[in-house]
Amino acid sequence: MKVAVFSCKPYDKAFLDQANQGRHELIFHEAALKPNSALLAQDCTAVCCFVNDQLDAKVLKALAEQGVKLVALRCAGYNQVDLETARALGITLVRVPEYSPHAIAEHTLALILMLNRQLHRSHYRVRENDYSLNGLLGFDLNGKTVGIIGTGKIGRTFAHIMLGLGCRVVAYDPFPDAALRTEGVEYVALEELWPQSDIISLHCPLTTDNYHLINADTLIQMKPGVMLINTGRGGLIDTKAVITGLKSSQVGYLGLDVYEEEGDLFFEDHSSQLLQDDVFARLLTFPNVIITGHQAFFTREALTAIAETTLNNIDGFERGDLTQVHQIE
Ligand code: NAI
Repeated sequence: MKVAVFSCKPYDKAFLDQANQGRHELIFHEAALKPNSALLAQDCTAVCCFVNDQLDAKVLKALAEQGVKLVALRCAGYNQVDLETARALGITLVRVPEYSPHAIAEHTLALILMLNRQLHRSHYRVRENDYSLNGLLGFDLNGKTVGIIGTGKIGRTFAHIMLGLGCRVVAYDPFPDAALRTEGVEYVALEELWPQSDIISLHCPLTTDNYHLINADTLIQMKPGVMLINTGRGGLIDTKAVITGLKSSQVGYLGLDVYEEEGDLFFEDHSSQLLQDDVFARLLTFPNVIITGHQAFFTREALTAIAETTLNNIDGFERGDLTQVHQIE
């Protein structure tokens, strides 16, 4: 099958080529899928997309007009897709529901440790022959309460890590996991999670119901100095409200791997341009904010699994065997 692969970096190409073994004709494009790049899918039966590719009604219609029948997402989340339009156009959607929950859960821990022990600051101090410890005081994670929102594959893995560090874990999920409960995770309502948690970590999908879940009203219910971590989706956080919280010290630490407006920034080298996003620029001024550019998934194991599942999804669609693909319905 002829497949136009969008937002394709050299590392994506390497892992996809390895998994493909010449089965399908993969046409690699560095460009993101947008209304003006949809034409690159001409003559292709499928497009293969990533988190910040645009899959709204306009783009989906442009793809359908060119004969595209399959959208193969190389990611788990699909909040960027207009599902109703895809259905109406008869476009099949597949995704990679699980590649490595460990990759994201471990990156979440990395953000927590870096923020808590201020490794970003101590690294530079030592390089400047400055071994003073003023301002680097951290806290033991052992015994602290970690609030996890969303205990699916990633949240569950993260819960195991934090239980292993001796934390108390409270969680909110509309579908609690019975096994996690027996392992010591306490499911609570959000109203209870906010005031109890020293650290709050988001691992739920972004939906219309939880857009800006972290906002001025919820921030005020949290412990003063709370550590907030978001490796879920940018839209879960009202960034301006969090900036106000950082300025008043209501938010003590912020670790982000995702950002609501990341589509214009992340995955690209903008180092020779001026940053135009004033909200993002303000975030970068805080010493107690760490931002990574949607890299939580970026491990060898995850990229291997993403490529293999994507190619298996395309195989299954080509055979007409949708029981073997991870379809979004
Ligand atoms: P999953 O589908 O296994 O688990 C999601 C869990 O969230 C489910 O248990 C579900 O019941 C729960 N949930 C749904 N709505 C909720 C709400 N309003 N409040 C609380 N919980 C809710 O998904 P998985 O694999 O654990 O991924 C979670 C999210 O992490 C994805 O949707 C994606 O947005 C994000 N992600 C980020 C990556 C990164 O590189 N930063 C990579 C992969 C995923």
